[in-house]
Amino acid sequence: MSMARGRFITLEGGEGVGKSTNLLFITDWMRSRGIEFVQTREPGGTPLAEQLRALLLEHREETVDPTAELLMVFAARAQHLAEVIRPALARGAWVICDRFTDATYAYQGGGRGLDLSLIAQLEQTVQGPLRPDRVLLLDLDPAQGLARAATTGAADRFESERLDFFQKVREAYLARADADPGRYAVLDAARPLAEVQQRLEVELQSLLG
Ligand SMILES: Nc1ncnc2c1ncn2[C@@H]1O[C@H](COP(=O)(O)OP(=O)(O)OP(=O)(O)O)[C@@H](O)[C@H]1O
Ligand SMILES: [Mg+2]
Repeated sequence: MSMARGRFITLEGGEGVGKSTNLLFITDWMRSRGIEFVQTREPGGTPLAEQLRALLLEHREETVDPTAELLMVFAARAQHLAEVIRPALARGAWVICDRFTDATYAYQGGGRGLDLSLIAQLEQTVQGPLRPDRVLLLDLDPAQGLARAATTGAADRFESERLDFFQKVREAYLARADADPGRYAVLDAARPLAEVQQRLEVELQSLLG
């Protein structure tokens, strides 16, 4: 008899919406229920993928070609899937990931304006049929999110984009959620944290069934 695959949950949203804050809440919830889980993030999650993350986030003299950026994101993802995500799910552990492919649709698709069908092609090549079981999308006005994020260190290459970039990121995320409401939970991240977490708990409970 094969073991049930673990649940694959991703946390998504723009800068400063509360992904890292709520990730802690989610891992506490899993721990208290004795669920074996792996907590990880993208880009990153393995030594090679973390090096690619650093290359993606650092400021540089040359303009980064959007397609080069997209391929680096998927290169990191391929490594992350092979080394961390697929083995965890296969042994029945849950995986909670701070950002995944929806962020690619939002940032490289919405923000940079790359062709969504190109992203879909790479998604299919790198992931096969694997998709998150539930995408927890924290939705917030980007001006508010950037103000929250500004309190934590210097702005990286993405955080230094203009407001209209983040407006496109937000719209792209919401369009993804609209197109597949059964797999996405859109949470109003402007609400007080306690309220956001009440909603999160309902979503997590629904994954137990
Ligand atoms: N619902 C909320 N209401 C008010 N402040 C919040 C809320 N959620 C998170 N914050 C605060 O906003 C700031 C950014 O949160 P956090 O770092 O979790 O966001 P993030 O989405 O992980 O950001 P980044 O995109 O930079 O990784 C933190 O100071 C956090 O305490
Ligand atoms: Mg974070």
